[in-house]
Amino acid sequence: MNRRRRIYEGKAKTLYEGPEPGTLIQFFKDDVTAFNTKKHEIFDGKGVLNNRISEYVFDNLNRIGIPTHFIKRMNMREQLIKEVEMIPLEIVVRNIAAGQMIQHLGVKEGTVLPRSIIEFYYKNNALNDPLVSEEHITAFGWASPSEIDDMMALIIRVNDFLSGLFWGIGIQLVDFKIECGRLFEGDLMRIIVADEISPDSCRLWDIKTKRKMDKDCFRENLGGMIENYCEVAFRLGIINQKETQRATGPILVKSDQ
Ligand code: TMP
Ligand code: ASP
Repeated sequence: MNRRRRIYEGKAKTLYEGPEPGTLIQFFKDDVTAFNTKKHEIFDGKGVLNNRISEYVFDNLNRIGIPTHFIKRMNMREQLIKEVEMIPLEIVVRNIAAGQMIQHLGVKEGTVLPRSIIEFYYKNNALNDPLVSEEHITAFGWASPSEIDDMMALIIRVNDFLSGLFWGIGIQLVDFKIECGRLFEGDLMRIIVADEISPDSCRLWDIKTKRKMDKDCFRENLGGMIENYCEVAFRLGIINQKETQRATGPILVKSDQ
């Protein structure tokens, strides 16, 4: 069916060779995983929603001068992106305490942090993506000190933009994760935002009700995940109300817990 060369198979996306050198095609799957794939289900239409939401976010980041790998959306599930050398880090910004922060540090969920906190995780499934310090990153050569500075500067701008974007549609950006890559243009190299930004990779709470509108619906078995992703897309003006009513339930693949 698909004769394109597959470059990378991730949990929620697949990368294929692009139509021109220096480009790739990013395909959004319906798979939803949590806790390093201990929990795994297929949600019909999730990939389509994340493709659209991530397109919207990346397109706007490009427009305000934050460099990203995004070129254009090609169809319901695919984007044309620039090929970059991925930096093996997951960069998390936290504005409100949730997730690992409440588990590991005992901070109460929902605590507004005195300032945005940036954390780096080493992207390695076999090691369960451990939290690492800048010392580890430079000592093991995953990124240089100046690249860390560039990533921090980028992610702070992304956080400010996303916080405002979501606040404007009644949603609080609790935290999110991005990944960065090195883009080579002739002799020049710059750090750009890659991967995706979607309710899979952000925590989004309705400002009024504090309802969780992100992948925590799945992680915490709250239900209504697709309906909430649809609601995010609807509030962003990406899909219309009718489409939000077409959401279907999950198809169970594997669930160990
Ligand atoms: P955490 O509290 O589990 O560390 O998650 C922080 C943010 O990063 C949250 O918005 C979800 C996102 N995230 C991912 O996108 N992928 C991951 O593998 C993990 C652990 C978190
Ligand atoms: N995406 C990660 C996984 O597949 C973890 C998470 O987002 O909670 O395990």
